[in-house]
Amino acid sequence: MMHFDHRKYQPGPVLAMPHRQWPDCSIQQAPIWASVDLRDGNQALLEPMGVAQKRRLWGLLVRLGVKEIEVGFPAASQPDFDFVRWLIEADQIPADVTVQVLVQARQDLIRRTFEALAGAPRAIVHVYNSTSPVQRDWVFGSDREGVKAIARQGARWVREEAANYPQTHWTFQYSPESFTATEPDYAVEVCEAVIAEWAPTPDHPCIINLPATVEVASPNRFADQVEWFATHISRRDALILSVHTHNDRGGAVAAAELALLAGADRVEGTLLGNGERTGNMDLVTLAMNLYSQGIDPGLDLSRPDEILAVVSECTGIPTHPRHPWVGELVYTAFSGSHQDAIHKCLKRQSADAPWQVAYLPIDPRDLGRTYQEVVRVNSQSGKGGVAFVMEREHGLNLPRWLQIELAQIVQRESERDGGEIDGPRIHQLFREHFVRDQGPWRLTGYRLARNGHDRIEVRLGTPAGERTLHGEGQGAIGAFVDAWTRAFGQSIQVLDYQEHAIGEGTDAEAAAYALITVDGERVSGAAIDRDVAGASLQAVLAALNRSVPTVVHDVATEQALAA
Ligand code: KIV
Ligand code: ZN
Repeated sequence: MMHFDHRKYQPGPVLAMPHRQWPDCSIQQAPIWASVDLRDGNQALLEPMGVAQKRRLWGLLVRLGVKEIEVGFPAASQPDFDFVRWLIEADQIPADVTVQVLVQARQDLIRRTFEALAGAPRAIVHVYNSTSPVQRDWVFGSDREGVKAIARQGARWVREEAANYPQTHWTFQYSPESFTATEPDYAVEVCEAVIAEWAPTPDHPCIINLPATVEVASPNRFADQVEWFATHISRRDALILSVHTHNDRGGAVAAAELALLAGADRVEGTLLGNGERTGNMDLVTLAMNLYSQGIDPGLDLSRPDEILAVVSECTGIPTHPRHPWVGELVYTAFSGSHQDAIHKCLKRQSADAPWQVAYLPIDPRDLGRTYQEVVRVNSQSGKGGVAFVMEREHGLNLPRWLQIELAQIVQRESERDGGEIDGPRIHQLFREHFVRDQGPWRLTGYRLARNGHDRIEVRLGTPAGERTLHGEGQGAIGAFVDAWTRAFGQSIQVLDYQEHAIGEGTDAEAAAYALITVDGERVSGAAIDRDVAGASLQAVLAALNRSVPTVVHDVATEQALAA
């Protein structure tokens, strides 16, 4: 029997909102961040966190600057209860951080929740019940009035119980669970009942949290629901409107972002998105989205590697290498054209100008990443990546024609071995192929007399012994080419020659690159030497050594020439 049948599903209802405002809004500031790592995130783990892991994750959240942290469901779980007690008794809650705990709308559970929080300076008590038709009809066997009564009663018990602990500054939070699948007018009606119990004021607001418990539609539909709610609920000025999105369709971050446009003040989520099923909204991604738009996220995300390490250690879930903003590979370009563009932009990007580097939406250094990781070379890479690595790692500024030749060699090597070619291997290939300083011809010495028309005496070592040549011409290279032509009768033309210092200071070395023709055959060579003239002669000699078969492989000719 065939199960894959789209006719089993239907699109969710569409809210008629011809005057919706959110598409024309933009985010101006970071929302209030609320972490649910230790509750929703923990609840979704195959193996829930132990005490040490919870403490570690708590410490990380506090260091990052999260000010509202849901730490568990203390009435339903003894480890959660104990953790809350530890936070309070060991005085672990900084003055600007508020703990939050979740509880169902049941009196015994609410009572136990307040016991867990006794002595806390501040706390958010988060009560919820499910409101969607399928939950009302099929799970609770109730109706609209019945489910609203559960919410109202829960809110009342929370208010009454809180009165027994006047030393704590309480904030009440209510979630109509399964909000995205709830009729909007009914969600408002239930929340009105709760708000009436709590009587919030602008000075002492309550939190209404709208969960996409299951993400059932596209983010724009969620934004419509949030805007509709925000514009139909009473006492909006006494409410903190919060959203809590899950990632069933992969849109949790987008939905939260659009919900901010639609009027939400607060966002619940987890670091890197751990949570039920496909996860909760990823706080790091949303915060970095804001950061990349020039908005202060209000969280210190400058050390993402610490976040990756602590989260994966506490959840047992590794982070995908392409995870937005913080994955291991996200500032790495494999494609040649991308590498080329990055290379060009990085050269022009100045430290104090607005960031605009192609393919790099932010400066990786902001996250403690370095350019080391920006370019890696494989068979898809072109000359740009190779040139970048040679310059960055070895200070060698290859001319374009040499970049092309080296990139072809690197590509062949990568295709043969499969996979990435690292910087040292690229440098080794460069030396093996272009810096032919081991012969067959080696420069063993030279004397250059410079007085307008240059004369040179060059001593060359060969397998057959040493040979001295004499020539004259324009500059060291002109004179050397003349000497070679006189000795061996080969016609040599210099098509291009470039040189530069490697590094700075008096002990900087010189790099030289020569592109010549030997009896009409194009060949290139390169050299690195302490002095510029030596480097230039060796670069030409390296090209001659490479000129196959005339010189390099024809040992008989070579010996005859040397005789
Ligand atoms: O996803 C959800 O609906 C929840 C609620 C308890 C807020 O986690
Ligand atoms: Zn949730």
